[in-house]
Amino acid sequence: MIQREDYQRAVSAIRERIDLQPEVGLVLGSGLGPLADTLDARVVVPYEDIPGWPRSTVHAHHGNLVIGKLEGRVVAAQQGRAHFYEGYSMQEVTFPIRVMHELGIGTVVLTNAAGGINPDFEVGDLMLLEDHIGLPGLVGAGPLMGPNDDSVGPRFPSMTRAYDRELRRCALEVARENDIPMHSGVYFGLSGPAFETPAEIRMIRALGGDAVGMSTVHEVLVARHAGMRVMACSGVTNRTIDVVDSDLDVNHEEVLEAGKVIVPRLTTILKGVLKRLPL
Ligand code: HPA
Repeated sequence: MIQREDYQRAVSAIRERIDLQPEVGLVLGSGLGPLADTLDARVVVPYEDIPGWPRSTVHAHHGNLVIGKLEGRVVAAQQGRAHFYEGYSMQEVTFPIRVMHELGIGTVVLTNAAGGINPDFEVGDLMLLEDHIGLPGLVGAGPLMGPNDDSVGPRFPSMTRAYDRELRRCALEVARENDIPMHSGVYFGLSGPAFETPAEIRMIRALGGDAVGMSTVHEVLVARHAGMRVMACSGVTNRTIDVVDSDLDVNHEEVLEAGKVIVPRLTTILKGVLKRLPL
């Protein structure tokens, strides 16, 4: 069991390196890490220097916490995240969110690469999460299982308003003003690492998923449990395949390639949201 003291030890290691108080936590998914390189006055803390911090074994996930300024706001950006499919527990993969909360961060913005399920979505589009379906959590592999620390949050946290309405309104406004294709939709979270079969893709669509991915949901559960404000955005990196024997296929390289189009779009959205919002 990871305890609150473990999160606090990580916070101490981070505080030794920084003078600024971070206000916003940012989690950068597959191919989206370069966004952290645009922060001003940045301090880079490698994950290995933070006790208890899980490290991603996935190629192209950098392993740094980058603290710096974006639009005058102090942001703590995670360049890469660890995933459940790497063999970490749900508590381990959500350790960074708990640490952000202990650091005094009240707002978290999560990003991810996702497969497009909704036929209206094109590769390179953004999808703002308005809700999620978290399959691992629904069947007992969620980060809030086990003893509850009442000093952090309630035993039965509500997820009715998981994705902050004001942050979503802001993000959509910024997208509109900058001609960035952004949809609102439901993120369907799975554990991976295998991509979905065609039958699974049809199931996800039938159940109401608009995009599919292997992260984010458990982080949202933990952030909301601790009362943090959440915004999350997917970059659609690939189409998903819903018929057997298709000549098309999905692979990790195309996910990373699409990240190159998505990074500048997401950067514009984030800057716009940070500029507008009284946090
Ligand atoms: N499926 C699951 N996760 C993903 C995908 C996908 O098609 N693309 C990027 N992450």
